[in-house]
Amino acid sequence: MGLHSSYLLPMQEIARAAGALLMTYFGKVTIEYKGEVDIVTAADRASEELIVGEIRRQWPAHDLIGEEGSRNETGSDFRWYIDPLDGTTNFAHGFPVFCVSMGLAHKGQRIAGVVYDPARDEMFTAAQGSGAHLNGNPIHVSKTARLTNALVATGFPSRNRHKSPNIHYYHQITLRSHGVRRAGSAALDLCSVASGRYDAYWEFNLNAWDTSAGILIAQEAGGLVTNYIGGECKVEDRDVLATNGLLHDEMMQEFKAILEGRVEGLPGPR
Ligand code: IPD
Ligand code: CA
Ligand code: CA
Repeated sequence: MGLHSSYLLPMQEIARAAGALLMTYFGKVTIEYKGEVDIVTAADRASEELIVGEIRRQWPAHDLIGEEGSRNETGSDFRWYIDPLDGTTNFAHGFPVFCVSMGLAHKGQRIAGVVYDPARDEMFTAAQGSGAHLNGNPIHVSKTARLTNALVATGFPSRNRHKSPNIHYYHQITLRSHGVRRAGSAALDLCSVASGRYDAYWEFNLNAWDTSAGILIAQEAGGLVTNYIGGECKVEDRDVLATNGLLHDEMMQEFKAILEGRVEGLPGPR
């Protein structure tokens, strides 16, 4: 048991309760708009209220940030990143790929993460130094060594989507792999790298509530997670490349080629 494993049990209880709450709304929600295509539903808000209420009750001195607006900013060394419903667009359309994501950082280091998929009853967990688990069983990244044999995933932002260059990356990686999935939940995409279902995943312009749990889970499963040029992916960084490690260099080479203008007319990743 690592130093931070004791958080995982209460985190799982909270995520499971939030997931059960989401299921009571699934198929019944009305779509509201935060932006042109940026959707929110009553389920996002109810889930955040449940999770944040529990965190404030159990760890009142900790800071937290929730996607739907919850904030505790007291300068604590501990900081929670909460995505009460990752995959809102899927959820709102009745497409069953979504999850609850809870990450905890200490002094800027990810120390514990839980991602719960209530539609499949899959609980992904990791604590720093203790490995990654799916429903209590250890998980590991894949052993695929070449991009040409890899199943890859990405995602696209719902804010300022016309400014995102990702469709060009999507195009190039699609031509060089078994395919690129866009399933619509960044946290589950990272967990799919952790469990070997995907060999690699990248996305630009994410938020820490999307990634803090999933990145730790992917790392603890043996994966390599950096920004798109290979640097450290800090807890509030926005660009993520997560692979099984074996594919990392090849993915970065492809990204470099795209960035260097071998694909013409591209804006930067943001
Ligand atoms: C979104 C999902 C999606 C990703 C977007 C995120 P939300 O989160 O993770 O897969 O492509 O960038 O904003 O809005 O459903 O919580
Ligand atoms: Ca999200
Ligand atoms: Ca969300």
